[in-house]
Amino acid sequence: GEQSGSSWLTYWPYFWDGIKTTLLIAAVSIFFGMILGIILALMRLTNNPILKALAGFYIEFVRGTPLMIQVLFMFLGVGSIFGWSTLTAGLVSVSMNSGAYIAEIIRGGVQSVDKGQSEAARSLGLNYWQTMRKVVFPQSLRSIWPSLGNEFITLIKESSIVSTIGVAELTFQTRAVTGLTYQAVVPLFISMVIYFIMTYALSQLLNVYERKMNKKYA
Ligand code: ARG
Repeated sequence: GEQSGSSWLTYWPYFWDGIKTTLLIAAVSIFFGMILGIILALMRLTNNPILKALAGFYIEFVRGTPLMIQVLFMFLGVGSIFGWSTLTAGLVSVSMNSGAYIAEIIRGGVQSVDKGQSEAARSLGLNYWQTMRKVVFPQSLRSIWPSLGNEFITLIKESSIVSTIGVAELTFQTRAVTGLTYQAVVPLFISMVIYFIMTYALSQLLNVYERKMNKKYA
């Protein structure tokens, strides 16, 4: 149908607010997800069977249940006890979700370092944690960084799920514009284009960074 007397530009502030909130959720969640992911990965690397099992269970459970259910549970369950806003519940659930995925990214990165590296370090007299700190972790960053970039891109897309509890990110604002205009398809198309611009720009940026890293280590 026709828009009477206004263009879609009129609704840009709604989309812009949504973009800012989407990026805020992705940025805050990757930050706390990294802290949680490092803790979980270290728990898995220890020899303590209890810490190992706890981290393993957390990672499997979070990755084995839908983010949508985690978000609803965090808002209606945990959040209602503590009186959390929808944004807080959204940030906590997306961060806790991402932490499980980031723990696996770190584990993969550590495993990707050639065994000969730690064997050489050990034979030079470094102990297990010295070897990890000085030899394995620094080299694992090479594969961890690009994966963290991909996780950030994933969070931009998957954070759309928090629209179900009413956090006014891009997907929520898209629905809000539909409510105001009685038009569904154009707002959805606009939001798809915006999501794609964000994810494509980021993945191009990551490619440039990766090429630089590869040159450095070639
Ligand atoms: N759609 C998936 C789910 O509901 C997304 C999980 C989030 N993924 C991530 N890498 N943080 O489980």
